[in-house]
Amino acid sequence: MTIESGFPFSQACENNKDPILEQLKTLLTGCRSVLEIGGGTGQHALYFAQSLPDLTWHSSDVASNLDSLARRIVHASLENLPKPIRLDVDHRPWACGRYDAVFTANSLHIMSENSVENLFVEIPDHMNAQAQLLAYGPFKYGGAFTATSNASFDQWLKERNPLSGIRDFEWINALAQRAGLRLKQDLSMPANNQLLVWDNHSSARS
Ligand SMILES: C[S@@+](CC[C@H](N)C(=O)[O-])C[C@H]1O[C@@H](n2cnc3c(N)ncnc32)[C@H](O)[C@@H]1O
Repeated sequence: MTIESGFPFSQACENNKDPILEQLKTLLTGCRSVLEIGGGTGQHALYFAQSLPDLTWHSSDVASNLDSLARRIVHASLENLPKPIRLDVDHRPWACGRYDAVFTANSLHIMSENSVENLFVEIPDHMNAQAQLLAYGPFKYGGAFTATSNASFDQWLKERNPLSGIRDFEWINALAQRAGLRLKQDLSMPANNQLLVWDNHSSARS
């Protein structure tokens, strides 16, 4: 992450925002509210809120990232992009409501495994009936990386923080199933990333 025009900036976000948006246009049809976990620089929040004016994009992040995320969001002053929420997946219960979709990009390999488990334990309490969970990023399948660049990235992540690392799709999907979610789509995205989509098929939650 760098600073550009006074705002934190991620080149990866610039590169992936259009391919993600193309999928969101279809996946989020009819959706009125989105909770974003780990909003980071706010580039995704701003771009998706501008591009999808029929929904309200509620971004969030941990306390240490909240000010820089809020800077971009407050400066944008969009009606459908409220001030971000302070949300650490480990601090349960989360102080936020229920949404038609939950979106998170490039966060599951940053968080510890324990935090990822916490995310999936808490998430059903924040999804409306029929809501979707969308998780973007690199994943392993059958214990194998989908590209050698992802193996190098995994090594870099672990040198930075031994608790980080690219997650196994099967492990993530098992956590999702335990949370009452059903895998709807596993979309291959540019640069060896995936967009995983689950829906909440328990109509008891509303
Ligand atoms: C690599 S950044 C991704 C940011 C942005 N979503 C993107 O795609 O560029 C990982 C994000 O996960 C957030 N994060 C890490 N641990 C977290 C936790 N325990 N709860 C919520 N968010 C967390 C970080 O603060 C950061 O914003």
